[in-house]
Formats: sequence, C-alpha cells, structure tokens
Amino acid sequence: MQKTLLIIKPDAVERKLIGHILSRLEQAKFNILEMKMLHLSPERARRFYAVHQGKLFLDSLVEYMSSGPVVAILLQKSNAVADLRILVGATDPAKAAVGTIRQEIGLDVQQNSVHASDSLETATGEISFFF
Ligand code: RTP
Ligand code: MG
Repeated sequence: MQKTLLIIKPDAVERKLIGHILSRLEQAKFNILEMKMLHLSPERARRFYAVHQGKLFLDSLVEYMSSGPVVAILLQKSNAVADLRILVGATDPAKAAVGTIRQEIGLDVQQNSVHASDSLETATGEISFFF
C-alpha cells in the first residue's frame, strides 16, 4: 500500500465540491486516512510550491492557493501515487482525459480544483508538510 496527498484547492471548496471530490476518491477505492481543512498563508503556499521557484506562474499560483480554505487529504491505496494522478488528470482541464476530476470540474490551467503528489518521494514530503 502506498500513501499520497490530495489537496482540494480554493476554487473547488468555494463551489461546494468537497463532498463530490471525496466521493470520487472513495469510488476509486482510495482509503481516506486523514483530512484537514486550513487556509494557507502566502508564505506557506510559496513553501509548498518551492519546486516551482522561477516559474512565471508562481506568484499567481501562490495568490490563488492562499485565496481561501483548502482541504488536505492523506490517501492510501495500492499504487496510490500513480492512480491518483490518473484520476486527477492533466494540469489543464481542457486537455484532461474524459472522466478525470479536472476534466469534470476544473476551471482553467491554474484553478484546476485539485493537487496530487507527483512521485512517491514528493508524496512523503508533502504528507509531512500537512500531517
Ligand atoms: P499539482 O502540482 O497542483 O498537482 O498540478 P500539476 O502537477 O498537474 O502541475 P504543476 O506543473 O505541478 O503546476 C502546479 C500548479 O500550478 C498551476 N499552474 N498554472 N498558468 C499556468 O500555466 C500554470 N501552470 C501550472 C496549476 O494550479 C497547477 O496545478
Ligand atoms: Mg505538480
């Protein structure tokens, strides 16, 4: 069994999609181990996205991720990291495969409703960031 992290981003919390996303995760056979709602400060959001230092979209991303509450969710499943990335879909909802969460509810390339850890190593770091 692997662990991974999903974050419900501010656009989805604002649109009352927390329950819908939890239901998608459960339907896909993820075990929900821990869950936390919090409002990231701009400083904490910047630390979380330190990997994107130097990218043109970083300032805008930090502003968006600290614009309202998010829900951090610790998930467990066999092959959890890769399976969650598949369920979440491509970064840009317009390019995400049919049936993925971002294709279904994402608004645009930035406000794409959910974050998913992109490797086992990243997952470990991101889980300890929140839990
Ligand atoms: P995430 O980390 O949130 O799961 O998303 P990801 O791996 O699919 O995409 P990544 O490249 O890590 O980008 C992190 C988040 O930054 C925003 N973004 N905006 N304006 C843009 O071109 C742009 N590109 C990325 C998105 O919110 C993306 O999820
Ligand atoms: Mg990423």
